[in-house]
Amino acid sequence: MGRLLIFLALAGGVAFVIFGAAASRRGGDVADVGRVEAVRWVKPVGAAVSVGPARRNEDYVRAFLAHYTSLTPENAMKWEQIQPRRGRFDFAAADALVTFAERHGRRVRGHPLVWDQQLPEWVTAGDWDAAELEQVLRDHVREVVGRYAGRVEVWDVVNEPLEDDGGFTRNVWFRVLGERYIEIALRAAREADPDATLLINEIAAEFEGPKAKALRRLVARLRRSGVPIDGVGLQNHTTARRFPDRERLAAVMGDYEDLGLDVEITEMDVALPPGAPLERQARAYTAAGEACAAAPNCLGLTVWGVTDEFSWIGADKRPLPLGEGGVSKPAFAALRTALAR
Ligand code: XIL
Repeated sequence: MGRLLIFLALAGGVAFVIFGAAASRRGGDVADVGRVEAVRWVKPVGAAVSVGPARRNEDYVRAFLAHYTSLTPENAMKWEQIQPRRGRFDFAAADALVTFAERHGRRVRGHPLVWDQQLPEWVTAGDWDAAELEQVLRDHVREVVGRYAGRVEVWDVVNEPLEDDGGFTRNVWFRVLGERYIEIALRAAREADPDATLLINEIAAEFEGPKAKALRRLVARLRRSGVPIDGVGLQNHTTARRFPDRERLAAVMGDYEDLGLDVEITEMDVALPPGAPLERQARAYTAAGEACAAAPNCLGLTVWGVTDEFSWIGADKRPLPLGEGGVSKPAFAALRTALAR
C-alpha cells in the first residue's frame, strides 16, 4: 500500500512536470478569477481581449468579465498566430480565449480570417499561382472556422478589403486571385460552419464617402449573386473631435437593413486629445450605443481593448470606456445608458 502511494505520487509528479511544462510552453489558460457577473446588456457588448494580459493579469480579466458579454481575440486568431508555417496550425492562444469565454457564457467574435496584415512571410512572400493560393485560403478558413464551429458566433471573414478611394486594397489575395478571394473565403466559411454569422469588417467606412459607397456596392453585389454574406462590421475607430453621430450611424445601419443584412460596431475606440474632457468622448459612445440599440439589425457593439492602458493606439489617448485598473469612465456610463437593461 505504502509503495503504491509512493508510486502514484511519483507518477503524478512526472505527469505534472510533463503536462505542466507543455501547458506553460503553450502559454496556458486565461487567469482564473472565478465567476463574475457582467452588466446586463440588451445586446452583446464586448471588448477585444489580448491573450498576454489575459493569462497573467487578474485585474484585466476581472475588468473584462464585470463589464462585457462578448469577446473578440485582439490578435490570437490572426494568420501569423494561427498558421505561422504552412499547414502548421497553432490554436493555443485562440483556444485559451474561446474556452474562457465559453466557461463564462460570453459570446465570441472570430477575427479575422482574411486580411493583408499580420500575415506570415510564407504567405506574403510566396510565389503563388492562383490555384495554389486559393487552396491555401480555403484550407485556412476550413481549419479555423471548423475548429470553432458552433462556438464562434460571428466571423469577420474579410477584414479591410477596401482603400479610402473605394478601390480594392492590392494585397496578396487581390493580386493573385482578384476580387474573387472575398467570395472564396465567404463560401469556405459557410461550409465550415453553416450557422455562423459572416461579416466583412471595414475601417473608416462610417462616414459617407468613396469607401462607404464601395463597401455597400460590394456587399449588395455579393448578396445578389448568392454569396453567403450576413452583414458588415463597422470598426468605428474614431476621435472625440470627429465621430459619426447617431443619425449617420442609423442611416448606415438602415441601408444595410434594406439589403437584408446585419451590422455590428466591431472595434470602437475614441481617441481623446490631451486635456480634453471625458464627456466629449462619451458623446461618441452615446451615438454608437443609441444607434445600435435602435437598429433591429445591429448585432452588438465591441470596443477595441479592455482598458485604456491596453489600447493599441496608446494609453495616452484614453480611448476606451474603462480607464486604468478598469475604472468606469463617462464613456462607459454612456454605453450603459444606451444599451443596458
Ligand atoms: C490591432 C491590434 O489591436 C494590435 O495589437 C496589433 O498590433 C495590430 O492590430 N483593425 C483591425 C484590428 O481589424 O485587427 C487591429 O488590431 C486594429 C485595426
